Amino acid sequence: MNNTDLKKYPVLPVVPQHVGLIMDGNGRWAHARGLPRLAGHRAGVQCLETVFRAAVEFGVSILTLYAFSTENWNRPESEVRGLLRILGDTLQNEIDKLDEHGVQLRHIGDLTPLSEALKRPICSAIELTKENDRLIVNVAFNYGGRREIVEAVRDIVRLGIPPEQISEETIAEHLYTGGVPDPDLIIRTSGEMRVSNFMIWQGAYAEYYVTPTFWPDFDRDEFYQALLAFSHRKRRFGEVEIG
Ligand code: IPE
Ligand code: IPE
Ligand code: MG
Repeated sequence: MNNTDLKKYPVLPVVPQHVGLIMDGNGRWAHARGLPRLAGHRAGVQCLETVFRAAVEFGVSILTLYAFSTENWNRPESEVRGLLRILGDTLQNEIDKLDEHGVQLRHIGDLTPLSEALKRPICSAIELTKENDRLIVNVAFNYGGRREIVEAVRDIVRLGIPPEQISEETIAEHLYTGGVPDPDLIIRTSGEMRVSNFMIWQGAYAEYYVTPTFWPDFDRDEFYQALLAFSHRKRRFGEVEIG
């Protein structure tokens, strides 16, 4: 950071380790410009590079991006097809750059309904970047928090774990995010005050931040404002604050 930046973005006393991003409002962004919804989704991918750079700069180590929910299959077929194409194109065009910048790409959700042509580049991107440690980016694609809990329960039953041995930790370990710390901050763009099935277990004690900005306009400054708001929150985790 240079001096002007330090004035505009003073170093924050606390920074969330893991930030979840509910990237909402692409359709409304496009509609406001008289563009098709898919143009909004493409614009939504464009701003990711800025967000990744800002995450590294401000000291965030893990980002989880909500890209496609288990409920988003209920959208018109042409939009769903377009979103799948955007995922494939983005992987193809950006993976080398992401790798060079030290991004470790991961996926959470259910890949089974995706075509082989899409699963293959996803798996190779994960493999290629698995040793990178500058920024972990979890992509939640075909992700649903309830589905994730159902799958965890199925795993636990399949393993024959006795009921009395099942703890909160057991469930957490069997979620897609097993081993990843819970999100400290979940940011939702476009003003909606709901969770929409995103990290419903892991977000139990996350701080939420909602901005009216549509996702394609989310930038470094917006990110900083969210982190600044987080730094002023008092996280009590059910306890009484002392002092
Ligand atoms: C978020 O933008 C992206 C996805 C859900 C895939 P939307 O497509 O939900 O945009 P709005 O909410 O209709 O504006
Ligand atoms: C949540 O946005 C899912 C993603 C951002 C991928 P939606 O637009 O699907 O959520 P709802 O339908 O407004 O709750
Ligand atoms: Mg939406």
